[in-house]
Amino acid sequence: MADKVRLAVLISGRGSNLQALIDACAADDFPAQIDLVLSNEPDAYGLRRAEQAGIRTTVVCHRDYADRSSFEDAVHDALLSGNPDLICLAGFMRILSPPFVNRWRHRILNIHPSLLPAFKGMNTHARALEAGVKTHGCTVHFVTAELDAGPTLLQAEVPVFTDDTPDSLADRVLEAEHRIYPDAVRTLATDLLRSR
Ligand code: GRF
Repeated sequence: MADKVRLAVLISGRGSNLQALIDACAADDFPAQIDLVLSNEPDAYGLRRAEQAGIRTTVVCHRDYADRSSFEDAVHDALLSGNPDLICLAGFMRILSPPFVNRWRHRILNIHPSLLPAFKGMNTHARALEAGVKTHGCTVHFVTAELDAGPTLLQAEVPVFTDDTPDSLADRVLEAEHRIYPDAVRTLATDLLRSR
């Protein structure tokens, strides 16, 4: 495909969802390519994954900025250098404030480890077990100014077993995350290319 949708991926840590996107983008017929991986943590393992794949990386460490607004201005400037069509949050552990989100309106995606609107926020697997749900899962959604509340693009369900621990449940959900994040990006990128 001659023309591809440009992605920037924002990470904070291990980057297994980033890896799933890198692997998907390696296919010639995948409609998107990753131009930039940005981490707010200098030691994020995901940065190494990106480097191994030959993708440009940058670090904007939140601790180097006096407040959220100046940190987000720096993230914004770094993103502009790659002029991305879509921004994929992939384990990015900073809350983005409304001014930032509005600057990239309809162009930021996130993967969340629950079937939203259930279990917004942190520790979703432990909370799902405590609640006794029989089905858990993950959601790819657009990011809006309200946390974990934007329109859903894709969800995957996984069963919850009686002997599950938060870790065993997290592993099962993560496998589903690695499937649906590339699928959601493919769908959205295909639509974007058609509308060009
Ligand atoms: C994933 O479970 C994702 O849903 C959540 O943070 C975790 C990041 O994992 N937002 P990884 O860095 O992609 O491996």
